[in-house]
Amino acid sequence: MNIAANPVVEADQTVYLKDYEKPSFLVDSINLDIQVHTDRTDVNATLVMKRQTSGDLVLLGRDLELKSITLNGKLLTEADYTLDAEQLVIANAPDQVILETAVVIHPESNTQLEGLYQAGDDLFVTQNEPEGFRKITFYPDRPDVLSVFTTRVEADKKFPVLLANGNLMEAGEAGEGRHYTIWQDPTKKPSYLFACVIGDLAVLKDSYVTSEGRDVALEIYAVEKDIPKCHIAMEALKHSMQWDEEHYGRPYDLDNYMIVATSAFNMGAMENKGLNIFNTSCVLADEEFTTDAAIMRVQSVIAHEYFHNWTGNRITCRDWFQLCLKEGLTVFRDQSFSEDLQSAAVQRIDDVAVLKAHQFPEDSGPLSHPPRPDHFVEINNFYTATVYEKGAEINRMMATLLGKEKFRQGTDEYFRRHDGQAVTVEDWVSALTAGSGVDLSAFLIWYNQPGTPKLEAKGDYDAATQIYRLSFKQSLKANAKYPNLKAVPIPVALALFDAETGEQYTLQSESLFENGVKDGVYLFDQNEATIEFTGVTAKPVVSLLRNFSAPVNLDFNYSDQELAFLMQHETNGFNQWQATQTLLERILLEGHDADIYIQAMKNTLPEVIQKDPLLASRLFDVPTEGYLGSRIDTDYQPAKIQEQRNALLDTLARELGAFCKETYLELDPDMQSEFSQAMGVRALRNIMLSMMARQGDASAFDLAYEQYHTGNMSERLGALKVLVWNDAPQAQEALADFYSRFEDEALSLDQWFMVQAAHPKANAETIKYLTSHPDYDLGTPNRIRAVSGGLNANPVNTWSFGVQHYIDLAKYLDEKNPIVGSRLLQVLSRWYTLAEPQRTEVKTALENLKPQVKSKNVVETLNSMLSI
Ligand code: TRP
Ligand code: ZN
Repeated sequence: MNIAANPVVEADQTVYLKDYEKPSFLVDSINLDIQVHTDRTDVNATLVMKRQTSGDLVLLGRDLELKSITLNGKLLTEADYTLDAEQLVIANAPDQVILETAVVIHPESNTQLEGLYQAGDDLFVTQNEPEGFRKITFYPDRPDVLSVFTTRVEADKKFPVLLANGNLMEAGEAGEGRHYTIWQDPTKKPSYLFACVIGDLAVLKDSYVTSEGRDVALEIYAVEKDIPKCHIAMEALKHSMQWDEEHYGRPYDLDNYMIVATSAFNMGAMENKGLNIFNTSCVLADEEFTTDAAIMRVQSVIAHEYFHNWTGNRITCRDWFQLCLKEGLTVFRDQSFSEDLQSAAVQRIDDVAVLKAHQFPEDSGPLSHPPRPDHFVEINNFYTATVYEKGAEINRMMATLLGKEKFRQGTDEYFRRHDGQAVTVEDWVSALTAGSGVDLSAFLIWYNQPGTPKLEAKGDYDAATQIYRLSFKQSLKANAKYPNLKAVPIPVALALFDAETGEQYTLQSESLFENGVKDGVYLFDQNEATIEFTGVTAKPVVSLLRNFSAPVNLDFNYSDQELAFLMQHETNGFNQWQATQTLLERILLEGHDADIYIQAMKNTLPEVIQKDPLLASRLFDVPTEGYLGSRIDTDYQPAKIQEQRNALLDTLARELGAFCKETYLELDPDMQSEFSQAMGVRALRNIMLSMMARQGDASAFDLAYEQYHTGNMSERLGALKVLVWNDAPQAQEALADFYSRFEDEALSLDQWFMVQAAHPKANAETIKYLTSHPDYDLGTPNRIRAVSGGLNANPVNTWSFGVQHYIDLAKYLDEKNPIVGSRLLQVLSRWYTLAEPQRTEVKTALENLKPQVKSKNVVETLNSMLSI
């Protein structure tokens, strides 16, 4: 029988955390036999199951053609079970069950990139998190069912590579030009971590010996011509393996670790046990083809997926509400890893910039939800910045509070208690508490409620007593869905500076800080509190939330002069950068004068450029139009923000004068020994080039053209942006050159699409030209995102002709790839903040879309977006 694709969302398909129940049957082992043919794939499964609680035997399955089903040797008929679009239910099953099923699936026509799908002519791969396995075979497809998987994969010999999780047990001929392999994964795992790969790929091999002496074979699979681009990922993998041993005491547990690269992938990468599957964009890295930022991202994603082996795989989630248990912790771990790879301050700056650009707006709009949601319709809609990034921040807060040693005792206890289990956020916090001896239970509040707290702080200096008082107050915007919002524990990392000398005070405050400490962490966990510092000889400048010690909106009435002071004297690189951002927001959103900022930049830059060119490049960050827009809740006029931001950049360029060209000509990335320093120099030079173009410097385009032709990808792309976005005479020639150079390099060609879509003066014709280009491909999410992401670099465009682009995409992808369709639509989630008439126009467009879509993904997103 054939089961209808994509069931329409019915009245209420909401799933609630409070309704969690244990599965009635567990699976001891599963034997899978997957036979891939050109026009179908046969999947035979044998499940050895035993009863755990009373109730029906429930097997989840979607888009499966059921051929036969046998229970304890007896062939079942339709009268023995009920079957609908989502599940197969057997009532009154015995306590011990051996279930055999035969189904047919169609990976060759699977465009959703979920389950088993064909990813180009020569490759089949799986993506099973969170609920893809049910599209391969009938199974209790939920993360609290852990089983031993044995997998036989059979296909035509034109696919020489046949992979699955675990150890290769057997390989051989299967007749008629076919062959097979059999794999066994000794570690019990949930079905979402199952993977198999069938294809024609080349491989890069290496090895790593763990701290326990295990010799692990490392393999990265990609198409032949991309193998030279796999070396950076391989080094990052070995580095990650060592890092997890050193920082968390976690060695790898299998004899092989495989990574497979595919361009047909919805997200970044997937941590399948011993067989990661990666978007090419997160594994291929080579300076000739890849920007520095993308190279950094490759290393962090390699680390992220590797770290999942312990935080996610060995210890997994009880249910999908607990997603942030594995994601929040693993993001925190990969961020810490990346802090060791480059300037730690810059890594923190970049991570916070992402948090503020994506998570803060998400949490202040209609898609706001707790890091651990308590209900959902479609779990795929909850792989969000809140779950990942805010989840990471919660772990960082606890780590900051505990300090290195106690945090390690806490994580040790977590691994000791829960290895091999499927657990909850409560289990994690309890283990950290028990291991460290510090009660962290209040941090659960962070997991359970939405919204970005506002932290108001006030400073008050009393010269007569030499006392400096800091008072704190926290609040959350009222939320109808969560009426009982509580105060959260906020670790406030702080320092006091002598306003004259720029030196840090030793913190004297009764029992709050240890003797002699200059960098303190104060745990503010009330609605209001005041702390006192004694022995403060003159009115100090306070620096709060150093290193962004909590994900809150800080409101402190700094003077512009104090912020300029922090730009120059703060030794915490993150807060030095934060001072520039606070100052710039005031200039851009509150009309403050730019003079103080420009003067402080002039004073600060020369020294920072010498010491840390990468940090210097970040000090030039001017909040993006998108971020500035997200700070506005009503009457948002994108064009006004654009105008103000351009005016500021013009002033900055003018005031910096000859400094830009001098710096550009003086700096040479090839003189830097470290990659991260060279990356900083390249970033700085690109900024200088764009400033020179702004100054109207006639030589800027010639220098850019020269840089375009001689540099690596970061330099080439930096130059190309200057030429294209300023409509330089050389722009078309450079674009044509870029195209012919990288025509066959999909990821580089993505940049060609992105640069044009991100042109500030792009219009509907630009987008039409790009989306009807022969190389545009609606089947490849990377290519879709190159255009839609580029377009969204300019909110003026997003909110005018862009609206139709996103709506058309959501409509088209609703059936073809609802995961991606739903995510792209979220670009429009802050429609309600727009000034009229745009507000009503976008609202109407969204309302018109509603009757035209039917996937749970898009429908849930659209309903939430319109529920404001
Ligand atoms: N678990 C993956 C990660 O490392 C996320 C992921 C990859 C994913 N592919 C997906 C989630 C597809 C949903 C759908 O973060
Ligand atoms: Zn992850």
